[in-house]
Amino acid sequence: MSNKVAQETASRRTFGIISHPDAGKTTLTEKLLLFGGAIQLAGSVKARKASTHALSDWMSIEQERGISVTSSVMQFFYRDYTVNLLDTPGHQDFSEDTYRVLTAVDSALMVIDHAKGVEPQTEKLMEVCRMRNTPVVTFINKLDREGMDPLDILAQIEDKLQIECVPLSWPVGMGKQFKGVYDIYRGQLHLFTPGRDSQADADGVMIKDVNDPRLDELLGGSAADKLREDLELLAGAANPYDHQEFLKASQTPVFFGSAINNFGVKELLDAFVELAPAPGCRSAEPRPVCPDEESFAGFTFKVQANMNPAHRDRIAFFRICSGKFQRGMKVRHQRLGKEVMLNNATIFMAQDRANVEEAYPGDIIGIHNHGTIKIGDTFTTAKDELRFTGIPNFAPEHFRRVLLKNPLKAKQLSKGLLQLAEEGAVQVFRPLQGGDFILGAVGVLQFEVTVARLKAEYGVEADYEPVAYGAARWVSADDRKTLEEFRAKNWNNMALDAEEHLTFLSESPWMLSRTMEMFPRVTFHKTREHS
Ligand code: G4P
Repeated sequence: MSNKVAQETASRRTFGIISHPDAGKTTLTEKLLLFGGAIQLAGSVKARKASTHALSDWMSIEQERGISVTSSVMQFFYRDYTVNLLDTPGHQDFSEDTYRVLTAVDSALMVIDHAKGVEPQTEKLMEVCRMRNTPVVTFINKLDREGMDPLDILAQIEDKLQIECVPLSWPVGMGKQFKGVYDIYRGQLHLFTPGRDSQADADGVMIKDVNDPRLDELLGGSAADKLREDLELLAGAANPYDHQEFLKASQTPVFFGSAINNFGVKELLDAFVELAPAPGCRSAEPRPVCPDEESFAGFTFKVQANMNPAHRDRIAFFRICSGKFQRGMKVRHQRLGKEVMLNNATIFMAQDRANVEEAYPGDIIGIHNHGTIKIGDTFTTAKDELRFTGIPNFAPEHFRRVLLKNPLKAKQLSKGLLQLAEEGAVQVFRPLQGGDFILGAVGVLQFEVTVARLKAEYGVEADYEPVAYGAARWVSADDRKTLEEFRAKNWNNMALDAEEHLTFLSESPWMLSRTMEMFPRVTFHKTREHS
């Protein structure tokens, strides 16, 4: 690997934020971008969240609801690091894309509202991180409000998310009594002043030994004693931070603060860039791909239709895994076995999309295309037939039956649905019994988006209605007979997905577990790799 590629790779931090809506992801993102100098004004990300950038018919759904259907990539520079923050759509626009974004990151930042604790969406996203052993840093937010006892939150995280917590900072009080955080990592006390952006105090007061009497002066006797007590308790109860355990995703370092007050954010960012891993090797067939290879390689993890319905072109979000990207370079589109020229790529900045001249492992580029690029596609200059793995479809959790208003449009409907399915936000199933289309999605907004786009882009008037499914799994078995028996016995619940893979559609998660118990020789897959 050239020195330049090695250096650039080592300085990359590519991550996503996992959180439940309203935990503070947008607020924190904005503060991080401010530190990175990527935006000048507080409020711009927030404004974008409820923004007017709806440029097509289906995007007006986004506008109506003040949410963002699009997820983007923000690159900023902090200290000696190039940070790529991949947005994980989280409100009603929560979708399979949210999960798939996590296949393109090297680490994650988990934001938890300390009044609410671990919430369902966080649990789901953590499950994706666990599947891939993605290292996770935790930020407990909104300490300026009353919330759960910090020890209880840590216990809840450990219990629900199956990851060991190692607090690297510790709060002193909360709500009206919130006095600040003690940075255990550096031995510094940071004092909180309500209603003020705390960036100015970011250096804190160095207090290496918590028995230092200055602690009493700064916090008041009882708060200082409580801090000492808590730290002693922690020292007895929690394991020390172990970098290898963090990298293996079995430990998460925990920070406390208040994003809206910009309190604890700089310490979080400083620790994050130091602890989070640079891009590493990625699983692929027939061999893993490491950043230090001369040849260029990467994969697509998201396809997004262009905002302008007049042009049916798409942007493929592409994660670079090895080598150097240069504008105009020729690469092989592995699935099609075709050479293509990458002269029309975009890198996603906080505010602008700038044309990229060069990019490195960990970076995300956008490649314009007319539907030729699918999720999971590998592009490379390597000699061997590489195919990245681990960018799967995720089992949908919500289902609707598609109703076609004009039966003469059946062909267009089928074409439209298959193309939309290729973009990956919605999945399409054909039950073995009957000729319906069943849509499956991870977030319900996708049904509305699909119907709006069928009309705008394919001229198909369709609607959808509820259908009695609540869970889906792709199924396989070691021998054909077992699978055939399973299919025959569950005929009414069997379907084929858009790539003709056999899928079991169950009435509910409960029914699913019952079926799984009844058919122990059948394997039920929550994800499916692209063919
Ligand atoms: P999200 O992207 O995870 O959905 O959360 P977002 O940042 O939009 O924050 C959700 C709400 O929580 C916002 O309030 C935001 O101001 C507030 N918030 C974020 N961080 C903190 C914090 O540290 N302390 C307190 N007290 N509140 C915080 P909102 O009322 O929904 O919006 P806004 O009117 O404040 O913009």
